[in-house]
Amino acid sequence: MRIVVDLTRCQGYAQCVFLAPQVFELHGEEALLYDPDVPAGQLDRVRQAAAACPVQAILVGEQ
Ligand code: F3S
Repeated sequence: MRIVVDLTRCQGYAQCVFLAPQVFELHGEEALLYDPDVPAGQLDRVRQAAAACPVQAILVGEQ
């Protein structure tokens, strides 16, 4: 599964880092780094992160 974070929307709320720290990493307040190829064991966490992001910046694909 792949994800894309719309970095023009991301405001550094860090819910994603809290919920899926193996996938998302925040440097400073708005520099979000992430692994676009989500490891299988992280799917649930990434879905929770996408749902929790206040600005819906995390787009989850099924491919
Ligand atoms: Fe950004 Fe949303 Fe995460 S605003 S830091 S993608 S919770």
